[in-house]
Amino acid sequence: QVIQRLDYRAPDWLVPDITLEFALSLDATRVRATLDVERNAEGETGAPLRLNGDGIAVAGLEVDGKALNDWRMDGNDLVIDLSGDKHRVVIETVINPTANTQLSGLYASGGMLCTQCEAEGFRRITFFPDRPDVLSRYRVRMIADKAKFPVLLSNGNPVASGDAHKNTHWAEWHDPWPKPSYLFALVAGDLVATRDTFTTRSGRKVDLAIWVRPGDETRTDHAMRSLIASMKWDEDVYGREYDLDLFNIVAVADFNAGAMENKGLNIFNTRYILADPETANDGDYDAVEGVVAHEYFHNWSGNRVTCRDWFQLSLKEGFTVLRDQQFSADRGSAPVKRIEDVRILRAAQFPEDSGPLAHPIRPDSYQEISNFYTATVYNKGAEVIRMMTVLAGAERFRKGTDLYFDRHDGQAATCEDFVKAIEDGAGLDLTQFRRWYQQAGTPHVAVTLTHAGETATLTLRQTVPATPGQPDKQPMVIPLRTALFDRATGANRGEHLLVLTGEEQTFTFDGFAELPVLSINRGFSAPVAIDNPSSDADLVFLAANDDDPFARYEAMQQLVVRHLVAAVGGQLDDAARSAGRAAIGKALAAVLADPALDDLMRGELVILPGETYIAEQLSPVDPGRIRAEREALKAWLGTTLASEWKALHDRTSAVPYGLEAAARGARKLKTQALVYLAPADPAEAVARASAQYAAADNMTDRQGALMVLCGLDGAEREAALADFHQRFADNALVIDKWFSLQAGSLHPRAIEHLKALAKHPDFTLTNPNRVRALYMAFAANTAAFHDPSGEGYRIIADLILALDPINGNVAARFVAPLGRWRKIEPARAALMRAELERIAAHSGLSRDVTEQVGKSLEG
Ligand code: ARG
Ligand code: ZN
Repeated sequence: QVIQRLDYRAPDWLVPDITLEFALSLDATRVRATLDVERNAEGETGAPLRLNGDGIAVAGLEVDGKALNDWRMDGNDLVIDLSGDKHRVVIETVINPTANTQLSGLYASGGMLCTQCEAEGFRRITFFPDRPDVLSRYRVRMIADKAKFPVLLSNGNPVASGDAHKNTHWAEWHDPWPKPSYLFALVAGDLVATRDTFTTRSGRKVDLAIWVRPGDETRTDHAMRSLIASMKWDEDVYGREYDLDLFNIVAVADFNAGAMENKGLNIFNTRYILADPETANDGDYDAVEGVVAHEYFHNWSGNRVTCRDWFQLSLKEGFTVLRDQQFSADRGSAPVKRIEDVRILRAAQFPEDSGPLAHPIRPDSYQEISNFYTATVYNKGAEVIRMMTVLAGAERFRKGTDLYFDRHDGQAATCEDFVKAIEDGAGLDLTQFRRWYQQAGTPHVAVTLTHAGETATLTLRQTVPATPGQPDKQPMVIPLRTALFDRATGANRGEHLLVLTGEEQTFTFDGFAELPVLSINRGFSAPVAIDNPSSDADLVFLAANDDDPFARYEAMQQLVVRHLVAAVGGQLDDAARSAGRAAIGKALAAVLADPALDDLMRGELVILPGETYIAEQLSPVDPGRIRAEREALKAWLGTTLASEWKALHDRTSAVPYGLEAAARGARKLKTQALVYLAPADPAEAVARASAQYAAADNMTDRQGALMVLCGLDGAEREAALADFHQRFADNALVIDKWFSLQAGSLHPRAIEHLKALAKHPDFTLTNPNRVRALYMAFAANTAAFHDPSGEGYRIIADLILALDPINGNVAARFVAPLGRWRKIEPARAALMRAELERIAAHSGLSRDVTEQVGKSLEG
């Protein structure tokens, strides 16, 4: 069944107040829900009360104090005919949290109880109009065994608590802020808190607590610092203050997503809370900071202003991703953060936009909304709002967001409401810009730069590719920050914001004696693909001299992508191959030697473009050839610059551990040096990696060394893997790394390793982190996943079929890698398609997997 965006109707009934009483237990929790319902003037007159349910049954029903038998089920919905306009409805349900392997609704995780209600989990707890435009004040009472569940938490403020009969106790919570059901949360368990406080700008003292399993409290410092910094930043940059006296975070080991912004009670995947130098690498530190900020920022962009319906998901997610990106940029190196954000966009969102699951940031239809928590809605959604900041400038954009929060506080809003508020507040005309919400697909901009007399002429031509259901596209508004460099002096002759609105447009620049060097889409001001005509020599120039750090990175990437695309396509003769390599080697040597670069930025510049990004430029794709050519280039660069890499490894190995940028940059380069040395001089790389592993006093160095060893044969590999497993046997998040490193390795026998790991006693299908650690790493390991035998495809299809009955939400995430078959060379494509058909032939598939497989076969 397909839900259409344009079918939206206002709710027939509202629920201004709800009281939930839980008698908690791991396998039989009783829920008594008291709903004060009233007719919505905007709803359909005389409509019955329709309450959503999912996998629950009515165990008792009263209306206005009287037992009611006059109700019916319509599919999963409970339907009650009510004559008046206001009623009190009491519903009882009984649920089994331990049997809830979907991890949606109320479920058990390692002896504790917790909830995940976004998007449609609340209906697995009780019958309710489970849609984000029904806002209620929640009162929650929990009673539970005192020894098993000493801590009882819910949204808002604690009201009262006490002991009850037979070793039980109870607690009551009240959330004064009306909220949709997807923001409801409850946690019960044996947890310990790390505490701190934050005083808001207007003087409210907020108690902060991060709740974890006993033993993990030594790893919450970084999350707490991140939370406090987020609270301050949102006041300073967006003028947003926290609005309760209490802010709780709970870390849970079994969690489908990264984290959840439940009002006053954020629930996190442990991997985005727990961090210390021994067990978390620098990327993990950044991820903790970013996700803690993201969930905190949702308090305004998501909770105070929520979504009218799930088609509007990007209203809160795109905006909140932008906010967390801006926060992290302010906390660390802004250019490096921008590069990382673009790398994620290109690796995850561009392939989505060019495949069968492509959708606009505001989708028009869905079967299962869980399938739309995507890189498109999140990351491209953030890019679209970032373009508004480019068009408006920071100050005017802030006027727009002030107006948005002001106008829609307490409401369930739409993307259109957001755009209108930015338009009105910032004084922009976004009429044509709105197409970014309607049209899927990554726009391509073809660039030509010519020169005559004293004038340089830049011609830009855009095309938006056809996507499923959208064969014809209209031109987008594409803001491109652009600079021209004087070829003779190397001087930047000034940056311009060129806004491309038509299909083709020409811009002229006077005062150039010869053809200038073009730097376009600086800072990645628009999420588009540029077909750049610059010569290799110009790219080498920009890689060394552009004053926009992103453009410098981009020139380096372009240089390599162009070379690899030609190499994979078989278009390079020996001379062209040598010339291409020489240009790349020259640019890389300049980056390694440049004293003006900090190591963190240098670390970004030396990373070769990823295989998926290269694959995006090719059709059809031979994944084996991409791997081979990329590794061959790496080996050549490793050999040619061998002494530079060794010197770099020596220099960075002498830098002591610290969280400051210089030390982090050194760690990034340290492992990159090994990455280049590995294919060039395996013996040298093994020796250095083993030494780095043995000397490591932090996870970044240890994991980097192990990653390199994992790709190479030898006793050192086995010894390091065994040591790593034994050293961290009791830390699930680190064991996840152990699985990932092997499944994602460059080792030619990665498939065999994967098959053995799937049978390892530490592997389980019931923990999403573990499943992703093993199989997402494998699906991203192009050479292994795309093994010509088709075994990789079979492994992922088997996983989907085995996982689907346990957790359809997570199972559906593995369809996309198989779904890219149309872009792959014919022999492999047939094998991929056959696996999709094998999945589709099964009966009883979840709605999640059904939708993704169906679209992948037809799209
Ligand atoms: N709102 C959460 C966040 O991004 C994610 C919820 C994920 N839910 C889902 N059904 N996948 O912060
Ligand atoms: Zn979010």
